[in-house]
Amino acid sequence: MRFADPRVADVFAEYAARHERELAAARDLPRGAFGARRDEFLLPVGAEVGAFLHALVIGRGARHVLELGTSYGYSTLFLADAARECGAKLVSIDVDAAKQAYAGQMLERAGLREHVEFRCGDAVELLGGGRETWDVVLLDIWKDRYVACFEAVYPGLAEEAIMVSDNMIYPEGAREAVRAYRAAVKGKADLQTVLLPLGSGIEVTARWSKDNARL
Ligand SMILES: C[S@@+](CC[C@H](N)C(=O)[O-])C[C@H]1O[C@@H](n2cnc3c(N)ncnc32)[C@H](O)[C@@H]1O
Repeated sequence: MRFADPRVADVFAEYAARHERELAAARDLPRGAFGARRDEFLLPVGAEVGAFLHALVIGRGARHVLELGTSYGYSTLFLADAARECGAKLVSIDVDAAKQAYAGQMLERAGLREHVEFRCGDAVELLGGGRETWDVVLLDIWKDRYVACFEAVYPGLAEEAIMVSDNMIYPEGAREAVRAYRAAVKGKADLQTVLLPLGSGIEVTARWSKDNARL
């Protein structure tokens, strides 16, 4: 996708180049070694999902956007650019302070830092039972925490909120956690949900007014 601000395009190009290098490095790792080193890698949602999120935030006219899983800020870049476009506030959560510091520097260089509030800690603990409401949510933390995180964010989903959850298809090792996650989502009567084969597979979930709820 094209970014209106060349600074955003430059930072995106840098992420894309780093990702290419990391894909090659990951291929060279001994079998089974990746898991222990996963924090070294961007693990990005990818450009297609990034563009989808960008369109979603703007199309929804979001005011409050939540990202769960900042990592090094790749997906944050798309969300923050869209947040600037439509005057939204983006809150981005990650348990890893060093990654968030890196993300903050990249966002600064892209001219987007003021549109993001970083919060560092466990997403489930920080969400704290729906004190804030969200129009668009990206869920992209470690998959074994998806169900707990979903239950924590669910009370805070605004009417007609949209939540996007990554890694529904890949990596294969996440499939059991993903099955449990999709079952939890489908268990809520006021949510409509569909799996789209974009990037690593995303679940797109919309909250409807309770009056319109499908049973
Ligand atoms: C797959 S990466 C996110 C990638 C990012 N969305 C992107 O596209 O660049 C997952 C991130 O979630 C963070 N994380 C994992 N479990 C978490 C939790 N319980 N609370 C907050 N962050 C968590 C990890 O530190 C990691 O940086």
